Amino acid sequence: MVKNICCIGAGYVGGPTMAVIAEMCPEIKVTVVDVNANRIDAWNSADLDKLPIYEPGLAEVVRAARGRNLFFSTDIENAIDEAEIIFMSVNTPTKNYGKGKGMGADLKYIELSARQIAKVAKTDKIVVEKSTLPVRTAAAIKSILDNTGNGVKFQILSNPEFLAEGTAINDLKNADRVLIGGDQTDEGLAAIEKLTAIYVHWIPRHKIIQTNVWSSELSKLTANAFLAQRISSINSISAICEKSGADVDEVARAIGADSRIGAKFLKTSVGFGGSCFQKDILNLVYICKTLGLPEVADYWEQVILMNDYQKHRFADNIITTLYNTVSGKKIAFLGWAFKKDTNDTRETAAMYVADILMNDLAEITAYDPKVNQEQMYADMDYLHSRTEDENRKLLKADTSPYSACKSAHAIAVLTEWDEFISYDWQRIYDNMMKPAFVFDGRNILDHKKLREIGFKVRAIGK
Ligand code: UDX
Ligand code: ADP
Repeated sequence: MVKNICCIGAGYVGGPTMAVIAEMCPEIKVTVVDVNANRIDAWNSADLDKLPIYEPGLAEVVRAARGRNLFFSTDIENAIDEAEIIFMSVNTPTKNYGKGKGMGADLKYIELSARQIAKVAKTDKIVVEKSTLPVRTAAAIKSILDNTGNGVKFQILSNPEFLAEGTAINDLKNADRVLIGGDQTDEGLAAIEKLTAIYVHWIPRHKIIQTNVWSSELSKLTANAFLAQRISSINSISAICEKSGADVDEVARAIGADSRIGAKFLKTSVGFGGSCFQKDILNLVYICKTLGLPEVADYWEQVILMNDYQKHRFADNIITTLYNTVSGKKIAFLGWAFKKDTNDTRETAAMYVADILMNDLAEITAYDPKVNQEQMYADMDYLHSRTEDENRKLLKADTSPYSACKSAHAIAVLTEWDEFISYDWQRIYDNMMKPAFVFDGRNILDHKKLREIGFKVRAIGK
């Protein structure tokens, strides 16, 4: 029975996943390590509101397990040395330089951790890929471990994480399935069983799918590609709806009632964001190209192109509707996170829409319940579209939605936070420039009520 595990990388995946394993398996010591000392300090902070990531239910899980069998530390070497199973949950961003730039995954953090494991390990280890990785990364990790190690035996497993942000704790506790891929040798199968034994503490065994390593790696990319494809598909239909008088929400309900299609992931939006969908599809596209499958690459790339189109369409609609100029006009953003119930802003549609409007010299005031001004500036600076000074001049964050909307010509809803629905919309209307426009990028508000107040409403796909 495994007694000691560790996880390299205390981010959105590593942190919540290990916290749930620790809560469910009190007899296993779980240590989460990271090179970022600030992040580890935040995980250890006495005030649970100060954890580095926001996830409903996470604080309760951390409260139950931290200090008992869940530990956060920067002592990576010691944690590797003690652990029988090491999870790798470091970031794998899209490469922004050299070969595969803009498409392939940057595996430098994975490689660094593999080398660190190789250097430190004195006993046999099971190394588990948790981060989303290109197919065949396990083989690369294995070759690093086998060639620089100290004669220690390693088994590499792929155990991709399917949690979605904002529902991470529920997704982890009530997973549809757990996927574990490993070598189909006696040692590989034994390693798969060891990891399975951890999950069966709370996941029914029939939901644990065991495969070979490559199937597991490819399944993760495929799952995200299919999910993103559904959103791009319904968003493409939203454009037809706007020109034809059909209502995209009605179309989604009508097709979703077909049990073969299913109702989930058919919500039209200003475009999907998040750290996974775009990165994983680009990864798939890159793999197709390197495997000599350009037609397959083009097929999947279209999902990304449609998503870019949707963000542009939304921003262009704001400019056109505001009499073809937003220069010097205040536009209020409600929401900045890439979806509700998270403070994560990676690839959020909000920053791309802001970028297009700021190119036209709009003055944006953004309010998000969980994202602060510093993060918004970091996102805009990351785009490198203009100087940092210009970003600070054209974009301001507000801590109140009411003052964010005050004197604005238009409101753009970028994230579907529940609280937006219950605002005092009459008060917001009274304090805006007229005509007062609402561009609902999530179709969450009561458009009939807003029109009765006097707003001019533009929704997606209506
Ligand atoms: C996704 C996958 O769902 C998860 O299984 C995987 O492990 C990581 O990637 P995540 O990115 O956290 O999770 O959130 P998700 O709920 O999938 O939403 C992604 C984006 O799609 C968000 O911007 C969301 O607003 C958007 N979306 C989602 C829609 O626009 N319409 C929908 O119907 C669903
Ligand atoms: P994800 O969404 O995949 O969890 P994050 O960026 O939130 O990605 O988290 C990845 C974490 O991995 C970061 O906190 C980063 O500091 C950490 N990390 C990256 N490389 C290493 C490394 N070699 N050793 C330890 N931690 C690392």
